[in-house]
Amino acid sequence: GKRSLCNNPDFPSVVVVGLGKKNAGVNGQENWNEDKENIRAAVAVGCRQIQDLEIPCVEVDPCGDAQAAAEGAVLGLHEYNELKQKKKPVVTPQLHGSAGSEAWQKGVIYAEGQNLARYLMEAPANYITPIKFAEYIEQKLGNFASNVKVHIRPESWIATQQMGAFLSVAKGSAEPPIFLEIHYLGGANANDSPLVFVGKGVTFDSGGISLKPSSGMDAMRADMGGAATVCSAIVTAAALNLPLNIIGLAPLCENMPSGKANKPGDVVRAKNGKTIQVDNTDAEGRLLLADALCYAHNFNARAIVNAATLTGAMDVALGSAATGVFTNSSWLWNHLYEASIVTGDRVWRMPLFEHYTKQVTDCPLADLSNIGKYSRAGGACTAAAFLKEFVTAPHWAHLDIAGVMANKDEVPYLRKGMAGRPTRTLVEFAARLSQDSPNPK
Ligand code: BES
Ligand code: ZN
Ligand code: ZN
Repeated sequence: GKRSLCNNPDFPSVVVVGLGKKNAGVNGQENWNEDKENIRAAVAVGCRQIQDLEIPCVEVDPCGDAQAAAEGAVLGLHEYNELKQKKKPVVTPQLHGSAGSEAWQKGVIYAEGQNLARYLMEAPANYITPIKFAEYIEQKLGNFASNVKVHIRPESWIATQQMGAFLSVAKGSAEPPIFLEIHYLGGANANDSPLVFVGKGVTFDSGGISLKPSSGMDAMRADMGGAATVCSAIVTAAALNLPLNIIGLAPLCENMPSGKANKPGDVVRAKNGKTIQVDNTDAEGRLLLADALCYAHNFNARAIVNAATLTGAMDVALGSAATGVFTNSSWLWNHLYEASIVTGDRVWRMPLFEHYTKQVTDCPLADLSNIGKYSRAGGACTAAAFLKEFVTAPHWAHLDIAGVMANKDEVPYLRKGMAGRPTRTLVEFAARLSQDSPNPK
């Protein structure tokens, strides 16, 4: 017979956790799978208890869903320790028993992907500069060298590409910009249409001449969260060996005030020729993304998905409950939405009305202003309308992740700090897309 867990010399300590309602399934009000969320939360709290007891190893019951259990364990135990002499004890979670070992492994990979994004976001801006970010991702992709290509494009390349909007932000800083371009070729054919991810990579956003208030400004070290989540999703897709091609694009720079910085009222020219009046230098993310989105059109993408910590207004609108998704494609929306129900890292659809476009195209000196003319009203929506001016592709989604950037205590299986959301949703989305035909819609 099987030995019981209690009184077992192999298990001197046992943590018991409650899983809530049995077979709760998909909650149609909450838009997530409640069983999975409960398992993540319960396993996370159990593993943290083991960590507090300084026990180096824990076997985790799969709780009926080994992937969710692994995610709870690996996400729950993560903490940014890098720069402290006193570190949390390392706890290695393992699956208890042999049933579901494949699902467990998948959960570990998903969670490690999110933890990679959390690590990059949490790290101080003097450690994760544009070049350090690029090199870190290059190193992570080194394990999959056979079907991965990494291009770390320097400032000269960015200038040749006529990315005047991106460059105008970068030139305010002493730290040189980088345009990171990564190719993961997991598809049956190297020339199958790729999924293209684009991420805002502002490694520190001071606001520039339109300087932010000093209180809480340190959080703007995570303003590369878009780049972190999309690049981590690609690293994870490679680790899972997903059968599709994915290209990742990350314009990386700092937004700083200096004698060379953008000044309010300056006009810059984006890659597609459109001119932009920089009415607020703190609305810099859309300037980087304008050029990166133009460039994303070079790849005959199945879909272009960008992620950005773009607006404080997004946080005002939804808080940390869900990522705001602005998309011109219901097909793309459905895929993202279905993925998010499984991962519990939710999305919510937001509007791309012409109403908002008018508020950014009505501009004294240029084709576009980088802020809406009623600057605070619908701030997340006017930002999305601005990005739309650089998109002609039929399947594009902009994910405003400013509200989900950090965790206080809302997500029970993440500790306080930068959240790395919605990396798992991006991975799950890519996994689902890889099951579709690779021909463009
Ligand atoms: N990176 C910020 C947005 C942000 C704010 C992200 C808080 C996460 C938390 C972005 O560059 C910014 O400053 N946006 C301005 C736009 C405004 C000037 C139109 C904002 O939201 O205030
Ligand atoms: Zn800003
Ligand atoms: Zn920013």
